[in-house]
Amino acid sequence: MVRTLIIVGGQWGDEGKGKIIDALMEKADAVVRCTGGNNAGHTVVVDDTTYKFHLIPSGITHEGKLNIISNGTVIDPDVLCSEIETLEKSGFTITDEKLIISSTAHTILEKHKKEDNPTTNAHSKKIGTTGRGIGPAYCDKINRSGVRIGEFVQGSSDSAKKLKPLIKDTATIVNGLIDNGKTVLFEGAQATLLDIDHGTYPYVTSSNPSAGGILTGSGVGPTKIDSVVGVFKAYITRVGGGPFATELGTDEQTKSEESASQLKEKRSSEEYEKEFTSLIAAANTDDEYAQGRLLRMQGYEYGTTTNRPRRTGWFDIVAAKYAAMINGLSSMVITKLDVLSNFKEVKLCVAYEIDGKKVTDFPLDIAQLEKAKPIYESMPGWDDDITSAKSFAELPKNAQNYLKKLEELCGIPISIVSVGPARDQTIVLDGKTLL
Ligand code: IMP
Repeated sequence: MVRTLIIVGGQWGDEGKGKIIDALMEKADAVVRCTGGNNAGHTVVVDDTTYKFHLIPSGITHEGKLNIISNGTVIDPDVLCSEIETLEKSGFTITDEKLIISSTAHTILEKHKKEDNPTTNAHSKKIGTTGRGIGPAYCDKINRSGVRIGEFVQGSSDSAKKLKPLIKDTATIVNGLIDNGKTVLFEGAQATLLDIDHGTYPYVTSSNPSAGGILTGSGVGPTKIDSVVGVFKAYITRVGGGPFATELGTDEQTKSEESASQLKEKRSSEEYEKEFTSLIAAANTDDEYAQGRLLRMQGYEYGTTTNRPRRTGWFDIVAAKYAAMINGLSSMVITKLDVLSNFKEVKLCVAYEIDGKKVTDFPLDIAQLEKAKPIYESMPGWDDDITSAKSFAELPKNAQNYLKKLEELCGIPISIVSVGPARDQTIVLDGKTLL
């Protein structure tokens, strides 16, 4: 029986972990956010309301659950306070029965945010950081010159006063919950390929968002974890800089597109309908940029934190197998399968070609990865709208075959498939590795 479950991102982030955690929360007593800061963004849709969180764990909208922000995170006090206030305005009461924060998490200070500004700092620009001060805050932590949040709340600012009652020794609390047979979810932020040790360095974040970092970031030992589940989109996206073997179109083409808000405005117009129809036609030729844009538009691939259009590409098996290895995945969750509709053909990258050689292990050398060309296996796609499918059997045959192929090539079972943002658009295929 699974009582402790780690959920990690298997790609470059934005895989839809928030929705999966939200779905699994029904059976959990507590959820722990272990790494990163407000560079992350979770969108959770409950009934008709959309909530966007950067720091607060996705279980906050559930009654009677404990949400924990643990020691591995970096906290911008103003951002955390404003998330708490938003929730309070929506009618939630936030006390230490619902939300607690580790006294040893580190504080993102004004100087960290000033330093990590992509418009003035060439390094932040090159990496494409979210500009939230994450790297500088972790630098100070590792350099032993940071300010822990337990220390910050001794101050007299409004945010210090607001956060103080929520500050606890979370490692002791989490281990106590586990020892008492409670069910605990560990929520990864960012993703494996953004891991400072295991990701595409230097184009990574400044923490360890993979399973190992979740243990250190919460103070829980490996023998206490029952299952590790990796979340993957049915395709792949990346924001910020860095190599991306299966990218469709170029980073420059993506950057030159309209912003999320401009697209939203356009969405209901006739012009948009026409553009969308011709985009589907172009995406079904060998126009890779059109394929990438169709994924972006159908998947609404714009950053929750930055609004930036995300770079899009076909599912990368080489990278997924690497993520399965690094995290010791028990199963994978495939999200946004509905976004692959309207493609006559869908592709899986089964190997890379680097300097004329076929490579099946994910290269750790960034220069090698930058040269990697995808070797694809194509499969027939589907036109059907699958957003109301309630079971594997209700999916079109070609979508079923796509999922079976993913399992076969990655060598791990698929536990959940998601076909839309709402809670009831979640199909459980195999619950053995889940709560
Ligand atoms: P930082 O974490 O703001 O320092 O950004 C470092 C890299 O990680 C950049 O490429 C960001 O776009 C990426 N990144 C950080 N957080 C997220 C996330 O939640 N989703 C996707 N990419 C992220």
